[in-house]
Amino acid sequence: MKLTILGGGGFRVPLVHGALLGDRAEGRVTRVVLHDPDAERLSAVTRVLAEQAAGVPDAPEVTATTGLDEALRGADFVFSAIRVGGLEGRANDERVALEEGVLGQETVGAGGIAYGLRTVPVAVEIARRVARLAPDAWVINFTNPAGLVTEAMSRHLGDRVIGICDSPVGLGRRIARVLGVADPREAFIDYVGLNHLGWVRGLRVGGRDELPRLLADPDLLGSFEEGKLFGVDWLRSLGAIPNEYLHYYYFNREAVRAYREAGKTRGAFLRDQQSRFYEEVRRPDVAALEVWNRTRAEREATYMAENRETAGAGERDADDLSGGYEKVALALMRAIARDERTTLILNVRNRTTLSVLDAEAVIEVPCLVDANGAHPFAADPLPDHATGLVCAVKAVEREVLSAAESGSRATAVKAFALHPLVDSVNVARRLVGAYTSVHPGLAYLE
Ligand code: G6P
Ligand code: MN
Repeated sequence: MKLTILGGGGFRVPLVHGALLGDRAEGRVTRVVLHDPDAERLSAVTRVLAEQAAGVPDAPEVTATTGLDEALRGADFVFSAIRVGGLEGRANDERVALEEGVLGQETVGAGGIAYGLRTVPVAVEIARRVARLAPDAWVINFTNPAGLVTEAMSRHLGDRVIGICDSPVGLGRRIARVLGVADPREAFIDYVGLNHLGWVRGLRVGGRDELPRLLADPDLLGSFEEGKLFGVDWLRSLGAIPNEYLHYYYFNREAVRAYREAGKTRGAFLRDQQSRFYEEVRRPDVAALEVWNRTRAEREATYMAENRETAGAGERDADDLSGGYEKVALALMRAIARDERTTLILNVRNRTTLSVLDAEAVIEVPCLVDANGAHPFAADPLPDHATGLVCAVKAVEREVLSAAESGSRATAVKAFALHPLVDSVNVARRLVGAYTSVHPGLAYLE
């Protein structure tokens, strides 16, 4: 089986490769093709993978190419993990927004819109090529903003593109752990929303909802990441556990202030950290896997550090440090390739799941996965406050998609202006001005 990874020179590719090495079952991936426009990044990552595979019998064959068509032909699965504009682009997304006093984050608020506007045209071009060159391939989209990018691609690939994120899985795992659920796989997590904008409303084990037990116990509730981030009282008011990214909405003012005061934005930190990594790995005497591991540990330890700081949440739990998105990707691929039925929280088309959205809207929801793809489970309606946010943000995503298609600058302004975290049409206009002057990838907006 052939797996193609777009963004194959990316920093997190060794995680996926590590998960593949652990898969010994019949029907596993035997060929990995890394695609990236940057040959140097490809050779750095290829070195890490070679060290990682040393001594592993029947490790998949890994090749690298800068030719997209060659990479796609014959692929059974395509992982799309690209970063249009690189980490320098991410740092600029954040900086421009923060200078206007609004949130700069790669997936939420103004920063997410800027990143989406840059990424959607590239993702659409990839989707078109996959449809032409590998029409039977399944595309697993990792590229942020993952919900929006998956929806853009689904217009060309239908249900053959599925978006993934590890944050709902991590959240479900943490709740199951504090509730003492022995095997988290036995729990059904009642989670729904958009990517980075969802809520856990229940956690059922043996047909019984265990979440009320958590909400009733302040000690238990305050003992894990989301409890520390949002505070016990707010979680009890909501009667649900929000995805950690909702911290940017519920505590926007504090998050913006902390981001503005931080020495470096997340994007700038990762840009510098990764440029050191790629530089170091070019030296022939260096142990590439070791450098990669060290860099990764530092990245994980500092994830959402400013948010945790404003909440006084302290360090991350050791158990939360290995994100696990490679595990979601592998589980999804196995379920499809071998008809191993499983339940995963994924980004798929809504169909009739949430009645407030149309059938084509990509949402994040538990799905049954089998050889025919991902089938969303029926979900209870969201409470009004959550419906309000989901509908407002989906409307913004639709403006982004329409701006990317038409190239209309006015539509891009509308996308920014309608976002709940952008507080003036004038700010939206200035953001479009500043983003188009800093990002070559936005030159199409007229
Ligand atoms: C979480 C999010 C991902 C994000 C990742 C890394 O897992 O769900 O969407 O890509 O964190 O975040 P970072 O700030 O380290 O790039
Ligand atoms: Mn994510």
